[in-house]
Amino acid sequence: MKIKNWLNKVCLYSKTNLYIYKECYIFIEFLLKKDRIWIEININFKLSLKNIEYLNLFLIRRLRGEPIAYILNKYYFLNISYIIYPDIFIPRLGTEYMVDYVIKLIKKENLLNILDLGSGTGVIACTISKNCPNTNIWALDNNILSINLIKINCLKLNINNINLLKSNWFLSIKNKFNFFNLIVSNPPYIWKKDICVNNNDLRFECRNSLLSKSKGIEDILYIIISSWNYLDNKGWLVLEHSLLNFNKIIYYFKKYYFNVYTYKGINNNYRFTVGQKIFK
Ligand SMILES: C[S@@+](CC[C@H](N)C(=O)[O-])C[C@H]1O[C@@H](n2cnc3c(N)ncnc32)[C@H](O)[C@@H]1O
Repeated sequence: MKIKNWLNKVCLYSKTNLYIYKECYIFIEFLLKKDRIWIEININFKLSLKNIEYLNLFLIRRLRGEPIAYILNKYYFLNISYIIYPDIFIPRLGTEYMVDYVIKLIKKENLLNILDLGSGTGVIACTISKNCPNTNIWALDNNILSINLIKINCLKLNINNINLLKSNWFLSIKNKFNFFNLIVSNPPYIWKKDICVNNNDLRFECRNSLLSKSKGIEDILYIIISSWNYLDNKGWLVLEHSLLNFNKIIYYFKKYYFNVYTYKGINNNYRFTVGQKIFK
């Protein structure tokens, strides 16, 4: 079967879903390791039976709503390609805004010891490492699958300044009081009763990555309060959050930290907050 015939077949299955049709190009690019222009020029290229089998499988999974990142085990974050597996949180475009800010802060303030709490695929820690190679980074997560995946991503990206820890937040780094120059986190912050939990985007994600008790604020509050003990004097805390519980988050940031600012991310919403520990 030619590429164009397979795409015509997709049109029938996906009906009016133009997105799925477009995404099929991504599947073909991935499978044949060619770019979009090559596909357009070689639309009469004959696919092997194995190719068709894979493409059909990708399509069925996608039609069921599974995210492309889980189907292809691949995700681009700030132009770096990461391996990703099901059960590990798929990084989001919004987090790129925060990491971009963090990289600038590290360079400007010459920060050295960095902690990434709830590291997932490791995109935050690895992107910092690639952009600020002189830093010492600790990446921790309570999901052992995540720690194993970060190891794989570090190998792939030739990174060797990240220390990995399986830990329930700070429990395994009790000896690092007043140590970090920057703590960054994109913690779970969704309330289990929030209807978005079961929408197409999130229903495939591991609940441990998404949900937090006390209407979504428990982990954020714990991190705001505990980080103070682990930050060096003048150290920075940078946290991603949603608009849910916004006032409470700012209240606690201001209670413990100085120079508190909240920044806008995707859709022009306030999405991450920064504060500095100043011990007088
Ligand atoms: C929203 S995901 C963020 C992942 C990654 N930092 C990113 O931005 O793509 C939250 C992460 O926190 C981890 N996590 C949840 N509870 C945790 C806990 N008690 N201790 C450590 N990590 C935890 C989850 O396993 C998940 O990887």
